[in-house]
Amino acid sequence: MRVFKRIQRAVNARILKRWGHSSIKKAIWNEEFSSGQWDYLEHTSNDPIYDYLARYSHHGNVLDLGCGSSNTGNEMDASTYRSYTGVDISDSAIRKALTRAINNNRQLKNEYVCDDISSYVPRTRYDVILFRESIFYLPNYQIKKILNRYSSYLSHGGVFIVRMCDRRRHGSIVRLIETHHRVLEKSSLAEADIILVFR
Ligand SMILES: C[S@@+](CC[C@H](N)C(=O)[O-])C[C@H]1O[C@@H](n2cnc3c(N)ncnc32)[C@H](O)[C@@H]1O
Repeated sequence: MRVFKRIQRAVNARILKRWGHSSIKKAIWNEEFSSGQWDYLEHTSNDPIYDYLARYSHHGNVLDLGCGSSNTGNEMDASTYRSYTGVDISDSAIRKALTRAINNNRQLKNEYVCDDISSYVPRTRYDVILFRESIFYLPNYQIKKILNRYSSYLSHGGVFIVRMCDRRRHGSIVRLIETHHRVLEKSSLAEADIILVFR
């Protein structure tokens, strides 16, 4: 019975993270970050995403939507960007991100904002707008509209980079991007995960 309840809770959380009200999403993510469930994301420096970021940042501005505790803002080569803005719905994740940036002496380059990425309004234009393992928490029907809105915050020559851990499971998002955007680069089909560069 207890196992059943735990499974039921996990299923509910998965649904609510996508479809729930902003305040419910925030509460779930806060609980998960505070409990250490996502601590493993803090050590990802070998991830192929860093090669893409180095090539497309052009020493400019990077916007990381759904940044979590900011592995990206702390692991990407500091010489490859001028400014980094991380946005996340969880203030627990944002607190961790800030502490990491201070410990890595990146507090002057990196800033963090606690907000819902479906309504967040950027204050400048970006060379890279990144959704790293975060776009699939938005309802599919909203993704096209949200990408269109953010596209007005891309600088001239700027790109979106989307990383997803499972290209088959999130095939509908891949198709949506390929249908409505110009894809400049796509990671190898041999990989289960996928990185798409587009505008
Ligand atoms: C799987 S984690 C990925 C974190 C980080 N980008 C990485 O790749 O390690 C997903 C992140 O998206 C954030 N997130 C999910 N829905 C969000 C929303 N609507 N607005 C802002 N952040 C959101 C979560 O709080 C969480 O930090």
